[in-house]
Amino acid sequence: MDLHLSGTTALVTGASKGIGLAITRGLAEEGVTVVAAARTAGPELTELAARAAVHVVPSDLSTPDGPARLVDAAVALTGGLDILVNNVGAVQPRTGGFLSVTDEDWTATLTINLLAAVRTTRAALPHLLERGRASVVTVSSVNAVLPDPLVIDYSAAKAALSSFCKALSKEVGPRGVRVNTVSPGPVSTGLWLGTDGVAATVARAGGPTAEDVARQAAGAAVTGRFTRPEEVADLVLLLASDRSANVTGADFAIDGGLVSTL
Ligand SMILES: NC(=O)c1ccc[n+]([C@@H]2O[C@H](COP(=O)([O-])OP(=O)(O)OC[C@H]3O[C@@H](n4cnc5c(N)ncnc54)[C@H](OP(=O)(O)O)[C@@H]3O)[C@@H](O)[C@H]2O)c1
Repeated sequence: MDLHLSGTTALVTGASKGIGLAITRGLAEEGVTVVAAARTAGPELTELAARAAVHVVPSDLSTPDGPARLVDAAVALTGGLDILVNNVGAVQPRTGGFLSVTDEDWTATLTINLLAAVRTTRAALPHLLERGRASVVTVSSVNAVLPDPLVIDYSAAKAALSSFCKALSKEVGPRGVRVNTVSPGPVSTGLWLGTDGVAATVARAGGPTAEDVARQAAGAAVTGRFTRPEEVADLVLLLASDRSANVTGADFAIDGGLVSTL
């Protein structure tokens, strides 16, 4: 299927690793000029940028003005934006329970998982509207609908993020900007499986090994496995494409059947 993406421009946040890197790679393979943002480029994104139309813009999206500065840089590099992928996010398992989660913890979680997307979208929207037809795809999480005390602040932030995207879709849809979310279950990235990922952090708090924690999480899905970053990227690309021109305000779970309700 031709996604008709060739010649368009995209901004991807959290692009140096994991899902964001897979999205950046996928868009570049489709002929999209991509502005890729993360605090540090990392070897894989640097290698990709050396051989494809990928511009790396180092950015800290947890700062109040980081997102707007990133969008300004992206527009200066590409001349305009057709696609925004709000992918940046982070999670810290709260193995000490709710009472251990401080105001600073809540603020940090809400900032990187909600406000970073709000601010990036605010800065990018005038440019997306200018195109007459554009797409915003935001990476939320199954935790938006599966609140979990282990990630109590992250669950709340992702629920707010999905709500924000749904509301925005109603405002900007009539003007040609589609807004959708994808909600992955566990994905095989550093966020879950890295040395400071969910599995290792839970293991360090006592009990099962990191491998057991990951095995248990995989087993909770009907398919019995983690989603691969490239599989999330494929879904994001379809939503970015005009192949899904009448899809807006929608959320797509990609979780191997983990969410068991309708
Ligand atoms: N992996 C999962 O199981 C899973 C499941 C559901 C939803 N998600 C969501 O999917 C998205 C991507 O997750 P992932 O698993 O790919 O995570 P990841 O492997 O940890 O990658 C996170 C990316 O965000 C960047 N980043 C982190 N803090 C940043 C900051 N302050 N400013 C700019 N960039 C920053 C990181 O680069 P730097 O560190 O260099 O900045 C990296 O490129 C997140 O929104 C996450 O909540 C993931």
